Amino acid sequence: MNDLDLLVGAAQADFAAAATPAELENAKARYLGKAGQVTELLKGMGALSHEEKKTRGAEINQTKQRIESLLTERRQALAEAELQAQLKAESLDVSLPGRQHGMGGLHPVSRTMERIEAIFGSMGFEVADGPEIEEDWFNFTALNTPADHPARSMHDTFYVDTKAPDGSGHLLRTHTSPMQVRHAVQHVKRHAAALAAGQAMPEIRVIAPGRTYRVDSDATHSPMFHQCEGLWIGENVSFKDLKAVFADFFRNFFETDDLEIRFRPSFFPFTEPSAEVDIAFASGPLKGRWLEVAGSGQVHPNVVRNFGLDPERYIGFAFGMGPDRLTMLRYGVNDLRLFFDGDLRFLSQFK
Ligand code: PHE
Repeated sequence: MNDLDLLVGAAQADFAAAATPAELENAKARYLGKAGQVTELLKGMGALSHEEKKTRGAEINQTKQRIESLLTERRQALAEAELQAQLKAESLDVSLPGRQHGMGGLHPVSRTMERIEAIFGSMGFEVADGPEIEEDWFNFTALNTPADHPARSMHDTFYVDTKAPDGSGHLLRTHTSPMQVRHAVQHVKRHAAALAAGQAMPEIRVIAPGRTYRVDSDATHSPMFHQCEGLWIGENVSFKDLKAVFADFFRNFFETDDLEIRFRPSFFPFTEPSAEVDIAFASGPLKGRWLEVAGSGQVHPNVVRNFGLDPERYIGFAFGMGPDRLTMLRYGVNDLRLFFDGDLRFLSQFK
């Protein structure tokens, strides 16, 4: 073995010992770099004769090429090893169960709202929507409940310190009844020409579901709760129609014909006569118990006048139901607060 073979052997061992590409580049510099051993050999040829230079030069060049190809080989081996390590580290275990995104579901009260809208929709009722921050006029005064009327004290709520167009304030609506007035006024405006010509106006038949607010909080009352208003006004609409509407609605809603409905005399400033509506199931866990589900009545002439209609000609009824209560009855829930706590252990049962 001559000195050049030894050099190739040393380079091979050095390259093999390099565990990373950086170490390999350092090893390369020791042989092929500016001050590397092959370079030194080439520099050392200055003292040789012309003939010796020829042979020695060719041998050194060959040596250089052998070292270079060893280097390339080692580079490829290291790159391959690195790739394999990376693939191993980043590999996916396709046998692991996936992380699930869990299907959402409708809130039980939203389900009830949708049912209410669908059932009344099938009876020809429109669905209207209105503001939760309401003007005093619509919430009370237009509903025959002037300032200082004692009925106002049963509707304690959150007042907002602003001025409504009529000079009174705003408040979080205590019921959905203001929607009676908002919707009727719009309806009357839409049919103003027909009314002015003494022609018949299409009936008002609307429900208005939504959030309402009162200062109230216990197992069956929450400061925020839901109501669904109903209004049917025409030239010939009577309490008999109200009873039929309720019978159809509750039988559909609870999916049973085994259900009785009764009207109990009551008082609301905006209806006269007024009635509380109770239902009783003929079977099931609530069998025979009268449950209050709505307030209702024939719309008071003063309110019909505020709609912009003549109470001598237009008459009808209004009602206000509690969708939260209906949801509790339908699903057998005994604490209203569960609906609004946002606890998924409760809510996910309705998916
Ligand atoms: N708004 C009444 C309440 O909140 C319910 C009601 C509505 C009564 C419509 C009669 C007519 O208690």
